[in-house]
Amino acid sequence: MQTIVLVDPESDFLEWAVHQLETPTTRVLTATRTDEAYRLYFGENADLLVTDTHMQPYNGLELLARVRQRDPNAMVVLTSAFGTTQSVIESMKLGAYDFIRKESLPFNLKVVVDAALKAQNEMRAATAFKPQLTVDQHQDSIVGQSEAMQQVFKMVGRVAHSEAPVMITGESGSGKELVARAIHHYSRRSDKFFVAINCAAIPETLLESELFGHEKGSFTGAVTQRIGRFEQSDGGTLFLDEIGEMPMQVQSKILRVLQEGEFSRLGGNVTLRTDVRIVAATNKNLEQEVARKQFREDLFYRLNVVRVHLPPLRQRVEDVKLLCEYFLARISSQKHLPRLRLSEDALRLMEAYPWPGNVRELENTLQRASVLATTDVLLPKDIPLGMIGVAVPPADLEAGGESASKSIPGPAPSAGVDGSSNSAVQSAIETLFQAAAQDKSLHLLPWLEREFTIAAMKLTRGNQLKAAKILGVTRATLRKRIERFGITRELNIQ
Ligand SMILES: Nc1ncnc2c1ncn2[C@@H]1O[C@H](COP(=O)(O)OP(=O)(O)OP(=O)(O)O)[C@@H](O)[C@H]1O
Ligand SMILES: [Mg+2]
Repeated sequence: MQTIVLVDPESDFLEWAVHQLETPTTRVLTATRTDEAYRLYFGENADLLVTDTHMQPYNGLELLARVRQRDPNAMVVLTSAFGTTQSVIESMKLGAYDFIRKESLPFNLKVVVDAALKAQNEMRAATAFKPQLTVDQHQDSIVGQSEAMQQVFKMVGRVAHSEAPVMITGESGSGKELVARAIHHYSRRSDKFFVAINCAAIPETLLESELFGHEKGSFTGAVTQRIGRFEQSDGGTLFLDEIGEMPMQVQSKILRVLQEGEFSRLGGNVTLRTDVRIVAATNKNLEQEVARKQFREDLFYRLNVVRVHLPPLRQRVEDVKLLCEYFLARISSQKHLPRLRLSEDALRLMEAYPWPGNVRELENTLQRASVLATTDVLLPKDIPLGMIGVAVPPADLEAGGESASKSIPGPAPSAGVDGSSNSAVQSAIETLFQAAAQDKSLHLLPWLEREFTIAAMKLTRGNQLKAAKILGVTRATLRKRIERFGITRELNIQ
C-alpha cells in the first residue's frame, strides 16, 4: 500500500483528486493546511506529497523545503494556479519532483503522480542496496571487471618493470592516459617525473623545441634557452600522447632518441644523453598511417614493442555498473553529498547506451546527473545521455571496429532525454537574439565564433585536432582563429 498526502485549500478540488488517485493499493490522505500536511506526511510515513503553492499558514514552497530538510529524498509535487517562472524555478531548486499548473491538472495529475510513485519505489529499492566500493578521492584508480580490462591490468603489471616502449591504443576517453600513468606508477621510475605531451595540441613549429628544447637565439623568438621534455623526464617516463599526429620531421628525431638515447637541443651542437621510458598513445590506426606513409615504419616498430589496447566501453558493458559506482562515490565525496546511487532502471539505461565518448563521457554524464537529481538515487529522468557531442558513425558501432578516429563532427547521437534538442537549440537562439537586441555592441556571429572556439578547446583540453573536428573546420583555420581572437592565454595553452 502506498500513501499520498494531498494538500489544497479547496475541498472540491481535494474530492476530485482523491477520486482520480485512489486505487486498491494507493491511499490518499488530504489536508487543507501545510502544518497539518507536514505532520501527516511524517506521521503516516507517506510516499508522496502533492501540494498547492498558495497555502496557509506557510506556502507550498516552504512546506517542500521543510519536508526535504527532514527527509532529503522526499518526493514532492507542486501544483499552482499561477505557476510563475520564479516559483517553478524555486521549487525545482528545492528538489521538487515536478511542478504542475492547475489548468493542466485534469490531464497530468494522475500521470505525474504515478511517475513519482514509481520513482519513489525505485529509489527505495536502490537504497536497500549498499554499495561496497571504497574510493580514495585523491587517487585515480583504473576500474574494470570485464575480461578485457583484466587483460589490460595484467599487461600493465607485466610491462611496468621493463624498459620497453609501450604503445597504448583505444578510442577517445577510453583511459589511455590513465593506463600510461599506471605504467609509470608501477615502474622503477615512479619516484621520477611522468611528463606528458600532447602532440596534437602543440603547433608543429613548436613541437620540436617543446620536446628537445632549444638554445638561445636558435630561431626568432628563442630569447632564452629552453629545456625540453626529454631532458625534464630524464630518469622518468615521457608520455607521447596522440603520437599519430606527430610530424615526420619530429618522428625521425624521436627515432634517434629511441635508438641511441641521444638528441640535441634546437640550434645546439652538443649531443645530450637521456634515459627516458617512452609510452605513446594514439586513437589512430597506426598500421594504416604507416601504409599511407604518414607515419615512419621504423618508428612504428620501435614503439610498438608492447601494445596495450583499451576496448571501447560499449564492448565491456560489464564495467558500466562498477564505473558508475566508482564515479558516484567520487562525486559524492567531492561535493560532500550523501552517497549517490543509480536506480535499477537508470543503470539499465546506462548499460544500453553506446558511449561514443567512452569512460570520459560516462563520468561527465554522472557529473551532470548529480546536478540534476533531486534525490540520492539517480533516476532515468536525471540522466542526460548523448549531450557530449561526440558521435560514432553507425557502421562503426555495429562493427565495433577499431578503425581510425572515432570523433567526427556533428550533432550528438541522441538529443537529451526527451529528444528535445531542436527546441532547446531554438530557445537558445532566441535567448541570444534577445541578448543581442539589448546589447547593441554585441556582434553575434563573431562573438559566437569566439565562444565556440574557446568551448571546443576546453572540451578537448586543448587538443586542436579534435577541437577543429568538433567545430567542423580545418586545424589550420582553428589555429588562425585562436590567434585572431587572441585567446591563447584564456585557454592556457602551453
Ligand atoms: N577504467 C577506468 N576507470 C576509472 N576511470 C577511468 C577509466 N578509464 C578512463 N577513466 C577516466 O576517464 C577519463 C578519460 O580517460 P583518459 O584521459 O585516460 O582517456 P584517453 O584514452 O587518454 O582519451 P583521449 O584519447 O581523448 O585523450 C579520465 O578522467 C579517466 O580518469
Ligand atoms: Mg588522452
